[in-house]
Amino acid sequence: MSTILPHVEFPLTRLRRNRRDDWSRRLCSEHKLSVDDLILPVFVVEGSNVRQEIPSMPGVARFSIDLLVEECRRIADLGIPAIALFPSVDDSLKTEDAREAYNPNNLVCRTVRAIKQALPNLGVICDVALDPFNSNGQDGLVVDGYVINDPTVDALRKMAVVQAQAGCDAVAPSDMMDGRIRAIREALDEKGLIDTRIISYAAKYASAFYGPFRDAVGSGGALKGDKKTYQMDPANSNEALREIAADLSEGADMVMVKPGQPYLDIIRRVKDAFGVPTLAYQVSGEYAMLKAAALNGWLDWDKVVLESLIGFKRAGADAILTYTAPDAARLLARGHH
Ligand code: PBG
Repeated sequence: MSTILPHVEFPLTRLRRNRRDDWSRRLCSEHKLSVDDLILPVFVVEGSNVRQEIPSMPGVARFSIDLLVEECRRIADLGIPAIALFPSVDDSLKTEDAREAYNPNNLVCRTVRAIKQALPNLGVICDVALDPFNSNGQDGLVVDGYVINDPTVDALRKMAVVQAQAGCDAVAPSDMMDGRIRAIREALDEKGLIDTRIISYAAKYASAFYGPFRDAVGSGGALKGDKKTYQMDPANSNEALREIAADLSEGADMVMVKPGQPYLDIIRRVKDAFGVPTLAYQVSGEYAMLKAAALNGWLDWDKVVLESLIGFKRAGADAILTYTAPDAARLLARGHH
């Protein structure tokens, strides 16, 4: 630690004094959570008037476009700055080449157009990875059982362009292919889409905490094998800095660490090393853990939500993707902290 600490000697110094009352606790609070820090991941399905609960994520649902627009209106009214959009695609559209990913009229593009038309000021972030469209559930193209990098990057470029042309504000490559940030930046710029931001899932780990999400987008059943040949080894930390450095040099506007709570040390290292906008993703399995315990009466939902989110801030995150965003926003509006 580089700070020079004053001599702390009891009873001259009593650290509990500042904690004694609410007013002094508030003055001494080192970090603040605000609604401005929240991004809500949302799931979309085909149809109209459809709302499907996700069993492994109680309180989270997939919506058809019409209901999702209404949901987004409530999200915007809560003051949440942005959503991250994920599609649950009909099995009939999933192929080995995942070509539906870059159909300009696919479910994602139609949803983006509907949301941006109704709510032009709500930030819309699109995920760039092939898994929702791939019959084998992998994020990239598979040849002889291996996800091949460069042809996958070509598909991702096309995918990012149709999403940006549909009007999304940011594309978020979550695929972990090498070189995809530069390729996507160049593809966007060639089309004149110079202001579409790239939020890179730069340090994304091969995690078992994504289980409920794969149920939500319906890629779990199809997934053959694991994602260890492209997502990071949970044992690694220096490698995360190399991933972040690569993505920043290729043009990423914001970087993300994912999952969140088991990787708070990575968030801290990234923030200290680069000082760039750093996002954390409190993923589906983290939500499911907290929710399951709360539904059993074992944890106090409101309190653990806010405590887990301030932990991200303390670790150095500027913003947090979290399924708890609406609840957190309501609690913050009522003055909880
Ligand atoms: C897909 C993607 C995943 C998540 C976000 N984008 C799953 C995966 O990599 O298998 C997980 C999000 C969550 O668990 O909440 N590229």
